[in-house]
Amino acid sequence: MYDFDTILNPDAQAAVEGRNPGYIVRMGVADMDFRSPPEVTEALIARARKGWYGYQGMTEDDYDAVRTWSAEHNGQEIPREHLLATPGVLYTMRACMYALTEQGDRVVIAPPLHTPSIRTAELKGRIPVRAQMRRLPDGSYTLDLDMLEKCFREGARVLLLCSPNNPTGRVLTYDELAGIAELSTRYGVRVVSDEIHRDIVYPPHRHIPLATLPGMEEAVTVFSPSKTFNMGGCHIGSAVIADAELRERVREELYAYGHSCGRPDLFAITAQTAAYRKGAAWLRELLTYLEGNIGTALEMLDGLPLRAVRPEGTMLLWVDCEALGVDTAAFWEFMKNRVHIQADPGHYYDTADIGSYTGPQHHFRMKLAMPRRLLRYALGNLREAVSAL
Ligand SMILES: Cc1ncc(COP(=O)(O)O)c(C=O)c1O
Repeated sequence: MYDFDTILNPDAQAAVEGRNPGYIVRMGVADMDFRSPPEVTEALIARARKGWYGYQGMTEDDYDAVRTWSAEHNGQEIPREHLLATPGVLYTMRACMYALTEQGDRVVIAPPLHTPSIRTAELKGRIPVRAQMRRLPDGSYTLDLDMLEKCFREGARVLLLCSPNNPTGRVLTYDELAGIAELSTRYGVRVVSDEIHRDIVYPPHRHIPLATLPGMEEAVTVFSPSKTFNMGGCHIGSAVIADAELRERVREELYAYGHSCGRPDLFAITAQTAAYRKGAAWLRELLTYLEGNIGTALEMLDGLPLRAVRPEGTMLLWVDCEALGVDTAAFWEFMKNRVHIQADPGHYYDTADIGSYTGPQHHFRMKLAMPRRLLRYALGNLREAVSAL
């Protein structure tokens, strides 16, 4: 019913037709080369037609759209008073961290992790501590609960969790989450859970919001429709905060730069409500299409000295290039200049200080949310260039 096949960028279209050989396929930024659901576009046009664009906040119907979606799609019932409308996920994660910690406090992260989320943990004098995820022999990752406990024992105040995980595509299981729950309760550590990728999960995997585990009602959940419906340019998100005092402090942090920074704008609200009310069928088709793209990508990498584990969620593929004997910085140059793919070097997910990185990281991250013909074109170039090495 929905179109994911049309290549929206004329330069990319020319490239797949063999008329634009130098074209660099963008596989870095985690958004999608698809149009958002037409229902969202129609709602935005209808709102624009009203012709007045004054201060407009969330209505009760807008809050209800978030709560209904969360209950039906993510298994999280949100009491109305716990729900805070925010202008985006990263901003909210940072506001929560500022509200929960002071300068000199330790903040735990579990890399590999989205670079801006790594940076969050070191802002305004916070001290980032790492419970690096453990890499298993098959190339997949798991949370290292021993490391987590060590970080908690050494006095960390907050864990900034990311599940589904960007970049590895891991969706934490109930047992992994139960491990976090037990440790955070035992050591009195507050968890702030970035669940921005929560709607993009492939069966049989299932996203479980941490705050739905017994005894974890005080964990903060942060999410948005921006990954789900390709609305990253609409600045909007939600936080679920059971503790009224913390909720007030987070609200104050969000509003510190004035009301327009503290809440979503009117077009973002319009887009979010339309997506949550009318976007379910589009999302179902998107997930099927993305699974097809994942299968295509794994097939096209097969036989090369590159290794990728099928992601459980997200639109991302985390590819191990260790067998090539180059680090990701060198591989990134090769990708851009020879293969004509712009993908993210793996060390972006180990450190926020990407300029001076010298470590052993040997992955790169590619987003797969694009028309299949373009994906085949890009990975065909990759196959050819790597085979010729
Ligand atoms: C894990 C994670 N958190 C946050 C963000 C950014 O969210 P926002 O644009 O709502 O600040 C992204 C975007 O890639 C992400 O992957």
